[in-house]
Order: sequence, then C-alpha cells, then structure tokens
Amino acid sequence: MKNLAILASGSGSNAEVIIRYFRNHETIRIVLVISNKVEAGVLEKAERLGIPSMVIPKKCWQEETDILKTFNNKQIDGFILAGFLLQVPPFLIERYSKRIINIHPALLPKFGGKGMYGKQVHQAVKMAGESNTGITIHEVNEVYDDGEIIFQASCSILPTDDVETIALKVQELEHIHYPKVIEGHFKSI
Ligand code: GRF
Repeated sequence: MKNLAILASGSGSNAEVIIRYFRNHETIRIVLVISNKVEAGVLEKAERLGIPSMVIPKKCWQEETDILKTFNNKQIDGFILAGFLLQVPPFLIERYSKRIINIHPALLPKFGGKGMYGKQVHQAVKMAGESNTGITIHEVNEVYDDGEIIFQASCSILPTDDVETIALKVQELEHIHYPKVIEGHFKSI
C-alpha cells in the first residue's frame, strides 16, 4: 500500500476527485490533505470526505527536521500537488525523488513558471491566440513547472471561448485524467 498526501492551497476540486477515486483502492491510499492556508476550501472537502488534514503555514515549510519528521511519522510515500501555490522545499524534493507530482492547467513548457496559476494561465493562452490548450502532469523539481513531464492532454479553443470557458474545459480534463495518471505513476515507481 502506498500512502499519499495531497497538497493544495485552494478550493480543492481535484483533491475531491482524487480522494473519491482512491477510496477502497488496492494499492493507493490518500491519507492526508495539507494546505498552507487555513481558509482553503480543500480543508472542508477533506473533512466532509473523512480524510485527515493539517495546515502548514508558509514559514514552517523551511523547518526541515520538523517537516520530514511529520511525514515520516505519517508514513507518507509521496505527494500530489493539486493547486498548491508554495514552492516545494528542495529537501523534500530530494527525500521524495520522483514521488511528488503536480498538475498544471496548460501545455507546458508554454504558459508555466512563477505567477502562472489559475486564471492568469488561461488569460495568457487566450491572449496568445492559441487554438488549443490542456493539462500537464509532471514531476516536481526545484523550478516551478519544470519537472519531467509524465502526461499531457489537450482540448481545442474556439474563437468564441472566453477565459471561463477555457478554464472549464481544462478542469474537465484534469478531473478525467489526474487520478488515473497518479495511479499509473505510483504503480511504476
Ligand atoms: C488546477 O487548475 C490545477 O491545474 C492547478 O491548480 C488548480 C487547482 O484547482 N495546479 P482545484 O483547487 O483543484 O479546483
């Protein structure tokens, strides 16, 4: 059994889909939801879905010994980022090599990097006149949105699509693919 934790800073729609997908799963268990924000919607979702959660504020992420001890005690084998806006500290990336993955709401390497999250991404895609967009699921390294790509899926953008419409199309792809890609990735390592 692999124990995974979800890291999220926002509403947690992906977290919810992932938690539901892995209920009663044979090899993967979502054991913890972690947020850096007390007000993050994902915490309510975790409670509703019966998954333990904790808040680790931004300043505490540099406390290497405490952080590693916490995750060791909880026997965490890997992390799923689902809208987590803090940079993952290098010591965690080193300790959990290949076992921290993220989803980005565009087709990397375009439209990624610091500050590229949420609506900004879709706005940039629209402004660039792209005819398609999509999702990228990748390993996490020290640079935002730069780790090895595991999976991409795309959808088309119509000239009449606004940022909201693009966001909905991308979110649909996220919910369809992220759980299955997590399953495949953690089976293979
Ligand atoms: C998603 O668009 C994901 O690609 C990005 O953050 C967003 C999280 O959305 N990394 P939600 O909180 O899961 O709805």
